[in-house]
Amino acid sequence: MAAHELLRAIEAEPRPCAVLDRAAFDRNLDRQRVLSRAHGLPLRLATKSVRVPALLERCLARGGDDLRGLLCFAVPEAEQLHARGLDDLFVAYPPSLGRGEGHDLARAAKLAARGATLVLAVDSAEAIDRAAEEARAHDTELGLALCIDMSLELARGRVHLGVRRSPLRDAAPIVALARRIADTKGTRFEGLLTYEAQVAGLPDRSPFAPLENALKQLVRARSVVDVASRRVAIVEALRHAGLPPRIVNGGGTGSLDSTTRASGVTEVSAGSGLFKPLLFDYFHDVHLRALEPSLFFALEVTRVPGPGWATVSGGGYVASGSAGRDKLPRPVFPEGLALDDLEGAGEVQTPLRVANGTSISIGDAVLFRHAKAGELCERFAEILVVEGERVVERVPTYRGLGWTFF
Ligand SMILES: Cc1ncc(COP(=O)(O)O)c(C=O)c1O
Repeated sequence: MAAHELLRAIEAEPRPCAVLDRAAFDRNLDRQRVLSRAHGLPLRLATKSVRVPALLERCLARGGDDLRGLLCFAVPEAEQLHARGLDDLFVAYPPSLGRGEGHDLARAAKLAARGATLVLAVDSAEAIDRAAEEARAHDTELGLALCIDMSLELARGRVHLGVRRSPLRDAAPIVALARRIADTKGTRFEGLLTYEAQVAGLPDRSPFAPLENALKQLVRARSVVDVASRRVAIVEALRHAGLPPRIVNGGGTGSLDSTTRASGVTEVSAGSGLFKPLLFDYFHDVHLRALEPSLFFALEVTRVPGPGWATVSGGGYVASGSAGRDKLPRPVFPEGLALDDLEGAGEVQTPLRVANGTSISIGDAVLFRHAKAGELCERFAEILVVEGERVVERVPTYRGLGWTFF
Protein backbone atom coordinates (compact mmCIF):
# COMPACT_ATOMS: atom_id res chain seq x y z
CA MET A 1 0.00 0.00 0.00
CA ALA A 2 1.32 3.42 -0.88
CA ALA A 3 2.23 5.68 2.05
CA HIS A 4 -0.45 8.23 1.19
CA GLU A 5 -3.10 5.48 1.29
CA LEU A 6 -1.87 4.38 4.69
CA LEU A 7 -2.10 7.95 5.95
CA ARG A 8 -5.60 8.29 4.51
CA ALA A 9 -6.67 5.15 6.41
CA ILE A 10 -5.63 6.68 9.74
CA GLU A 11 -6.80 10.22 8.98
CA ALA A 12 -9.30 10.24 11.84
CA GLU A 13 -6.98 8.58 14.39
CA PRO A 14 -5.34 10.49 17.25
CA ARG A 15 -1.59 10.80 16.78
CA PRO A 16 1.05 9.61 17.60
CA CYS A 17 -0.07 6.17 16.46
CA ALA A 18 1.61 3.04 15.12
CA VAL A 19 0.24 1.57 11.94
CA LEU A 20 0.70 -1.73 10.15
CA ASP A 21 0.24 -2.39 6.45
CA ARG A 22 -1.16 -5.87 6.92
CA ALA A 23 -0.83 -7.03 3.32
CA ALA A 24 2.87 -6.09 3.30
CA PHE A 25 3.36 -7.87 6.66
CA ASP A 26 1.75 -11.04 5.25
CA ARG A 27 3.84 -10.86 2.09
CA ASN A 28 7.02 -10.53 4.18
CA LEU A 29 6.05 -13.62 6.15
CA ASP A 30 5.39 -15.54 2.95
CA ARG A 31 8.73 -14.52 1.43
CA GLN A 32 10.58 -15.75 4.50
CA ARG A 33 8.56 -18.97 4.64
CA VAL A 34 9.33 -19.71 1.01
CA LEU A 35 13.02 -19.11 1.58
CA SER A 36 13.31 -21.27 4.68
CA ARG A 37 11.14 -23.98 3.11
CA ALA A 38 13.49 -23.98 0.11
CA HIS A 39 16.26 -24.78 2.57
CA GLY A 40 14.15 -27.52 4.14
CA LEU A 41 13.98 -25.65 7.45
CA PRO A 42 11.12 -24.50 9.66
CA LEU A 43 11.05 -20.88 10.77
CA ARG A 44 10.91 -19.97 14.48
CA LEU A 45 9.51 -16.49 15.09
CA ALA A 46 11.77 -14.16 17.08
CA THR A 47 9.22 -12.55 19.41
CA LYS A 48 11.38 -9.61 20.48
CA SER A 49 11.23 -8.34 16.93
CA VAL A 50 7.40 -8.36 16.92
CA ARG A 51 6.08 -7.87 20.51
CA VAL A 52 2.44 -8.09 19.44
CA PRO A 53 0.79 -11.39 20.43
CA ALA A 54 -1.99 -11.09 17.85
CA LEU A 55 0.59 -10.72 15.08
CA LEU A 56 2.58 -13.70 16.32
CA GLU A 57 -0.67 -15.68 16.29
CA ARG A 58 -1.45 -14.44 12.79
CA CYS A 59 1.94 -15.67 11.56
CA LEU A 60 1.55 -19.06 13.23
CA ALA A 61 -1.91 -19.52 11.72
CA ARG A 62 -0.84 -18.40 8.25
CA GLY A 63 2.53 -20.17 8.33
CA GLY A 64 1.22 -23.65 9.16
CA ASP A 65 3.95 -26.29 9.03
CA ASP A 66 6.52 -23.81 7.74
CA LEU A 67 6.65 -22.30 11.21
CA ARG A 68 7.90 -23.89 14.41
CA GLY A 69 7.35 -22.21 17.74
CA LEU A 70 8.64 -18.98 19.18
CA LEU A 71 12.08 -17.69 20.06
CA CYS A 72 11.28 -15.69 23.20
CA PHE A 73 13.44 -13.19 25.04
CA ALA A 74 12.37 -13.63 28.67
CA VAL A 75 10.93 -16.33 30.92
CA PRO A 76 7.98 -14.15 32.11
CA GLU A 77 7.24 -13.49 28.44
CA ALA A 78 7.13 -17.23 27.72
CA GLU A 79 4.78 -17.54 30.69
CA GLN A 80 2.42 -14.90 29.27
CA LEU A 81 2.49 -16.39 25.79
CA HIS A 82 1.75 -19.83 27.19
CA ALA A 83 -1.20 -18.41 29.14
CA ARG A 84 -2.57 -17.23 25.77
CA GLY A 85 -2.35 -20.76 24.41
CA LEU A 86 0.97 -20.49 22.56
CA ASP A 87 3.56 -23.21 23.00
CA ASP A 88 6.97 -24.45 21.82
CA LEU A 89 8.80 -21.65 23.56
CA PHE A 90 12.57 -21.33 23.29
CA VAL A 91 13.92 -18.59 25.57
CA ALA A 92 17.03 -17.40 23.77
CA TYR A 93 18.76 -15.40 26.53
CA PRO A 94 20.03 -16.72 29.87
CA PRO A 95 17.64 -16.72 32.81
CA SER A 96 18.36 -14.86 36.02
CA LEU A 97 19.64 -17.31 38.63
CA GLY A 98 17.76 -15.66 41.50
CA ARG A 99 16.12 -17.88 44.09
CA GLY A 100 12.46 -17.67 44.96
CA GLU A 101 9.10 -17.99 43.28
CA GLY A 102 9.21 -14.65 41.45
CA HIS A 103 12.52 -15.45 39.75
CA ASP A 104 13.05 -16.84 36.26
CA LEU A 105 14.03 -20.40 37.08
CA ALA A 106 11.17 -21.06 39.49
CA ARG A 107 8.76 -19.61 36.96
CA ALA A 108 10.27 -21.69 34.16
CA ALA A 109 10.04 -24.83 36.27
CA LYS A 110 6.38 -24.14 37.02
CA LEU A 111 5.73 -23.57 33.33
CA ALA A 112 7.41 -26.87 32.47
CA ALA A 113 5.41 -28.60 35.23
CA ARG A 114 2.23 -27.25 33.63
CA GLY A 115 3.20 -29.10 30.45
CA ALA A 116 4.68 -26.29 28.35
CA THR A 117 7.21 -27.23 25.68
CA LEU A 118 9.95 -24.98 26.94
CA VAL A 119 13.68 -24.70 26.25
CA LEU A 120 16.02 -22.29 28.02
CA ALA A 121 19.30 -21.18 26.50
CA VAL A 122 22.22 -21.23 28.95
CA ASP A 123 25.98 -21.02 28.66
CA SER A 124 27.37 -21.71 32.13
CA ALA A 125 27.65 -24.56 34.62
CA GLU A 126 26.08 -22.27 37.24
CA ALA A 127 22.91 -21.85 35.19
CA ILE A 128 22.68 -25.60 34.54
CA ASP A 129 23.04 -26.47 38.22
CA ARG A 130 20.53 -23.84 39.36
CA ALA A 131 18.04 -24.88 36.68
CA ALA A 132 18.32 -28.49 37.79
CA GLU A 133 17.86 -27.52 41.44
CA GLU A 134 14.76 -25.49 40.67
CA ALA A 135 13.32 -28.19 38.39
CA ARG A 136 13.75 -30.83 41.13
CA ALA A 137 12.15 -28.51 43.68
CA HIS A 138 9.11 -28.31 41.39
CA ASP A 139 9.16 -32.01 40.61
CA THR A 140 9.80 -31.47 36.92
CA GLU A 141 12.53 -31.30 34.30
CA LEU A 142 13.84 -28.28 32.39
CA GLY A 143 14.95 -28.53 28.75
CA LEU A 144 18.20 -26.64 28.21
CA ALA A 145 20.04 -25.59 25.06
CA LEU A 146 23.61 -24.33 24.97
CA CYS A 147 24.14 -20.91 23.50
CA ILE A 148 27.29 -20.94 21.34
CA ASP A 149 29.48 -17.99 20.38
CA MET A 150 29.43 -17.93 16.57
CA SER A 151 31.53 -14.77 16.26
CA LEU A 152 34.38 -14.68 13.80
CA GLU A 153 37.70 -14.67 15.60
CA LEU A 154 40.88 -13.80 13.78
CA ALA A 155 44.52 -13.50 14.80
CA ARG A 156 44.15 -16.23 17.45
CA GLY A 157 41.25 -14.52 19.16
CA ARG A 158 42.77 -11.05 19.25
CA VAL A 159 40.12 -9.86 16.78
CA HIS A 160 36.56 -10.73 17.75
CA LEU A 161 33.92 -9.89 15.13
CA GLY A 162 30.43 -10.48 16.42
CA VAL A 163 28.51 -10.15 19.65
CA ARG A 164 29.65 -10.75 23.21
CA ARG A 165 27.27 -13.36 24.51
CA SER A 166 28.34 -16.90 25.24
CA PRO A 167 31.88 -17.98 26.18
CA LEU A 168 31.32 -21.36 24.47
CA ARG A 169 33.14 -21.78 21.15
CA ASP A 170 35.03 -25.05 21.10
CA ALA A 171 33.58 -28.52 20.86
CA ALA A 172 35.23 -29.95 24.01
CA PRO A 173 33.69 -27.56 26.61
CA ILE A 174 30.38 -27.67 24.73
CA VAL A 175 30.28 -31.47 24.89
CA ALA A 176 31.24 -31.31 28.57
CA LEU A 177 28.35 -28.94 29.40
CA ALA A 178 25.91 -30.94 27.28
CA ARG A 179 26.97 -34.01 29.26
CA ARG A 180 26.46 -32.11 32.53
CA ILE A 181 22.92 -31.20 31.42
CA ALA A 182 22.13 -34.74 30.33
CA ASP A 183 23.58 -36.34 33.48
CA THR A 184 22.03 -33.97 36.00
CA LYS A 185 18.66 -34.93 37.43
CA GLY A 186 16.19 -32.17 36.58
CA THR A 187 17.69 -31.03 33.25
CA ARG A 188 17.44 -32.40 29.72
CA PHE A 189 19.82 -31.55 26.86
CA GLU A 190 17.80 -30.16 23.96
CA GLY A 191 20.34 -28.66 21.61
CA LEU A 192 22.10 -25.50 20.55
CA LEU A 193 21.45 -21.85 19.92
CA THR A 194 23.95 -20.69 17.30
CA TYR A 195 23.09 -17.14 16.28
CA GLU A 196 25.55 -15.65 13.80
CA ALA A 197 24.98 -11.97 14.64
CA GLN A 198 27.85 -10.73 12.48
CA VAL A 199 26.06 -12.13 9.43
CA ALA A 200 22.40 -11.63 10.35
CA GLY A 201 22.74 -8.17 11.85
CA LEU A 202 25.62 -6.53 10.01
CA PRO A 203 24.38 -4.19 7.26
CA ASP A 204 26.89 -4.20 4.39
CA ARG A 205 25.32 -1.44 2.30
CA SER A 206 25.08 1.25 4.95
CA PRO A 207 24.89 4.87 3.86
CA PHE A 208 26.20 5.90 7.29
CA ALA A 209 29.65 4.35 7.05
CA PRO A 210 30.12 3.71 3.32
CA LEU A 211 33.85 3.14 3.59
CA GLU A 212 33.27 0.20 5.95
CA ASN A 213 30.85 -1.60 3.64
CA ALA A 214 33.47 -3.56 1.69
CA LEU A 215 35.03 -4.77 4.93
CA LYS A 216 31.63 -5.75 6.32
CA GLN A 217 30.88 -7.73 3.16
CA LEU A 218 34.13 -9.57 3.69
CA VAL A 219 33.34 -10.27 7.36
CA ARG A 220 29.90 -11.57 6.42
CA ALA A 221 31.21 -13.78 3.62
CA ARG A 222 34.06 -15.16 5.72
CA SER A 223 31.71 -15.73 8.67
CA VAL A 224 29.23 -17.72 6.60
CA VAL A 225 31.96 -20.27 5.88
CA ASP A 226 33.36 -20.22 9.43
CA VAL A 227 29.91 -20.52 11.07
CA ALA A 228 28.88 -23.45 8.88
CA SER A 229 32.05 -25.45 9.45
CA ARG A 230 32.15 -24.81 13.22
CA ARG A 231 28.48 -25.57 13.65
CA VAL A 232 28.71 -28.82 11.73
CA ALA A 233 31.82 -29.82 13.70
CA ILE A 234 30.14 -29.08 17.06
CA VAL A 235 27.04 -31.08 16.12
CA GLU A 236 29.27 -33.94 14.97
CA ALA A 237 31.21 -33.90 18.25
CA LEU A 238 27.95 -34.02 20.23
CA ARG A 239 26.67 -36.94 18.14
CA HIS A 240 29.93 -38.73 18.61
CA ALA A 241 29.58 -38.27 22.36
CA GLY A 242 26.07 -39.77 22.25
CA LEU A 243 24.42 -36.36 22.80
CA PRO A 244 22.71 -35.58 19.49
CA PRO A 245 21.01 -32.16 19.63
CA ARG A 246 17.29 -32.21 18.91
CA ILE A 247 17.32 -28.50 18.00
CA VAL A 248 20.07 -26.50 16.35
CA ASN A 249 18.71 -22.99 16.01
CA GLY A 250 20.52 -20.34 14.00
CA GLY A 251 20.11 -17.28 11.89
CA GLY A 252 18.03 -14.21 11.81
CA THR A 253 16.34 -12.12 9.15
CA GLY A 254 19.70 -10.96 7.80
CA SER A 255 21.06 -14.48 7.25
CA LEU A 256 18.09 -16.43 5.95
CA ASP A 257 19.88 -17.14 2.71
CA SER A 258 23.02 -18.55 4.34
CA THR A 259 21.65 -20.28 7.44
CA THR A 260 20.81 -23.48 5.60
CA ARG A 261 20.53 -27.12 6.53
CA ALA A 262 24.05 -27.60 5.13
CA SER A 263 25.26 -25.02 7.65
CA GLY A 264 24.20 -27.41 10.43
CA VAL A 265 20.89 -26.01 11.71
CA THR A 266 17.54 -27.75 12.13
CA GLU A 267 15.58 -24.48 12.20
CA VAL A 268 16.04 -20.76 11.54
CA SER A 269 14.81 -17.78 13.52
CA ALA A 270 13.49 -14.54 12.10
CA GLY A 271 11.29 -11.70 13.20
CA SER A 272 12.51 -8.30 12.06
CA GLY A 273 11.87 -9.04 8.41
CA LEU A 274 8.13 -9.03 9.06
CA PHE A 275 8.24 -5.28 9.73
CA LYS A 276 11.39 -4.53 7.72
CA PRO A 277 12.68 -1.63 9.78
CA LEU A 278 15.26 0.82 8.39
CA LEU A 279 18.34 -1.24 9.36
CA PHE A 280 17.30 -3.93 6.91
CA ASP A 281 17.39 -1.44 4.03
CA TYR A 282 21.16 -1.51 4.26
CA PHE A 283 21.98 -5.04 3.10
CA HIS A 284 22.95 -6.38 -0.31
CA ASP A 285 21.02 -9.65 0.03
CA VAL A 286 18.36 -10.14 -2.59
CA HIS A 287 15.83 -11.57 -0.12
CA LEU A 288 16.19 -8.58 2.21
CA ARG A 289 15.74 -6.17 -0.64
CA ALA A 290 12.53 -7.94 -1.61
CA LEU A 291 10.99 -7.34 1.84
CA GLU A 292 8.66 -4.35 2.26
CA PRO A 293 8.39 -1.93 5.18
CA SER A 294 5.14 -2.80 6.93
CA LEU A 295 5.26 -1.01 10.30
CA PHE A 296 5.22 2.78 10.58
CA PHE A 297 4.30 5.46 13.07
CA ALA A 298 2.47 8.67 12.38
CA LEU A 299 3.17 11.97 14.13
CA GLU A 300 1.31 15.25 13.82
CA VAL A 301 2.74 18.61 12.81
CA THR A 302 1.95 20.91 15.74
CA ARG A 303 4.22 23.89 14.97
CA VAL A 304 5.94 25.62 12.10
CA PRO A 305 8.97 27.31 13.67
CA GLY A 306 9.82 29.16 10.46
CA PRO A 307 10.07 28.76 6.71
CA GLY A 308 11.58 25.40 5.82
CA TRP A 309 10.63 23.80 9.14
CA ALA A 310 7.79 21.76 10.62
CA THR A 311 7.76 20.35 14.14
CA VAL A 312 5.90 17.15 14.99
CA SER A 313 4.83 15.94 18.44
CA GLY A 314 6.79 12.95 19.74
CA GLY A 315 9.31 11.04 17.68
CA GLY A 316 12.26 10.25 19.97
CA TYR A 317 12.04 6.54 19.36
CA VAL A 318 15.71 5.75 18.99
CA ALA A 319 16.83 2.15 18.54
CA SER A 320 19.14 0.33 20.96
CA GLY A 321 22.71 -0.70 20.19
CA SER A 322 25.79 1.42 19.59
CA ALA A 323 24.58 5.02 19.35
CA GLY A 324 24.65 6.49 15.88
CA ARG A 325 22.58 8.10 13.17
CA ASP A 326 21.59 4.68 11.88
CA LYS A 327 19.53 4.20 15.06
CA LEU A 328 17.31 7.21 14.46
CA PRO A 329 13.82 6.96 12.99
CA ARG A 330 13.24 8.58 9.61
CA PRO A 331 10.29 10.50 8.17
CA VAL A 332 9.23 8.73 4.97
CA PHE A 333 6.06 10.53 3.91
CA PRO A 334 5.43 13.19 2.73
CA GLU A 335 8.72 13.11 0.89
CA GLY A 336 11.15 15.96 1.41
CA LEU A 337 11.26 15.87 5.23
CA ALA A 338 14.38 15.15 7.24
CA LEU A 339 15.53 15.16 10.86
CA ASP A 340 17.76 18.01 11.90
CA ASP A 341 21.30 16.96 12.89
CA LEU A 342 21.36 19.24 15.94
CA GLU A 343 18.10 18.10 17.55
CA GLY A 344 17.62 14.62 16.10
CA ALA A 345 14.46 12.82 17.22
CA GLY A 346 13.19 14.65 20.31
CA GLU A 347 11.78 13.49 23.61
CA VAL A 348 8.49 15.38 23.21
CA GLN A 349 8.79 16.98 19.79
CA THR A 350 10.89 16.64 16.67
CA PRO A 351 11.71 19.48 14.27
CA LEU A 352 11.89 18.48 10.62
CA ARG A 353 13.60 20.26 7.76
CA VAL A 354 11.18 20.73 4.91
CA ALA A 355 12.61 20.68 1.38
CA ASN A 356 11.57 23.24 -1.20
CA GLY A 357 8.47 22.04 -2.99
CA THR A 358 7.15 19.99 -0.05
CA SER A 359 3.96 21.40 1.32
CA ILE A 360 3.16 20.67 4.97
CA SER A 361 0.97 22.47 7.50
CA ILE A 362 -0.01 22.34 11.14
CA GLY A 363 -2.36 19.40 11.66
CA ASP A 364 -0.83 17.24 8.91
CA ALA A 365 0.43 13.76 9.71
CA VAL A 366 3.94 12.55 8.92
CA LEU A 367 4.74 8.87 8.49
CA PHE A 368 7.99 7.53 9.97
CA ARG A 369 9.89 4.26 10.08
CA HIS A 370 11.82 2.98 13.10
CA ALA A 371 15.40 1.73 12.79
CA LYS A 372 14.64 -1.61 14.48
CA ALA A 373 11.62 -3.89 14.57
CA GLY A 374 9.97 -4.75 17.88
CA GLU A 375 11.29 -1.82 19.85
CA LEU A 376 8.70 0.52 18.36
CA CYS A 377 6.05 -1.53 20.14
CA GLU A 378 7.48 -0.44 23.49
CA ARG A 379 6.28 3.08 22.57
CA PHE A 380 2.70 2.28 21.64
CA ALA A 381 -0.09 0.45 23.44
CA GLU A 382 -1.69 -0.72 20.20
CA ILE A 383 -1.04 -1.07 16.51
CA LEU A 384 -3.64 0.09 14.01
CA VAL A 385 -3.89 -2.63 11.40
CA VAL A 386 -4.73 -1.29 7.95
CA GLU A 387 -6.04 -3.26 5.00
CA GLY A 388 -7.71 -1.85 1.90
CA GLU A 389 -7.29 1.73 3.16
CA ARG A 390 -9.23 1.04 6.37
CA VAL A 391 -8.27 0.35 9.96
CA VAL A 392 -9.57 -3.20 10.23
CA GLU A 393 -8.21 -4.12 13.65
CA ARG A 394 -6.44 -2.67 16.71
CA VAL A 395 -4.03 -5.08 18.29
CA PRO A 396 -2.37 -4.51 21.67
CA THR A 397 1.40 -4.57 21.89
CA TYR A 398 3.26 -6.12 24.83
CA ARG A 399 3.27 -2.64 26.35
CA GLY A 400 -0.48 -2.33 25.82
CA LEU A 401 -0.94 -5.60 27.67
CA GLY A 402 1.30 -4.40 30.50
CA TRP A 403 3.98 -6.92 29.53
CA THR A 404 7.30 -5.23 30.27
CA PHE A 405 10.34 -7.41 30.66
CA PHE A 406 13.42 -5.23 30.33
C1 LIG B 1 19.26 -15.42 19.34
C2 LIG B 1 18.72 -14.60 18.23
N1 LIG B 1 18.26 -15.21 17.13
C3 LIG B 1 17.78 -14.50 16.10
C4 LIG B 1 17.76 -13.14 16.12
C5 LIG B 1 17.33 -12.40 14.88
O1 LIG B 1 16.13 -11.85 14.87
P1 LIG B 1 15.65 -10.93 13.66
O2 LIG B 1 15.16 -11.82 12.59
O3 LIG B 1 14.59 -10.14 14.29
O4 LIG B 1 16.79 -10.10 13.20
C6 LIG B 1 18.24 -12.45 17.24
C7 LIG B 1 18.24 -10.99 17.28
O5 LIG B 1 18.92 -10.34 18.03
C8 LIG B 1 18.74 -13.20 18.32
O6 LIG B 1 19.23 -12.61 19.43
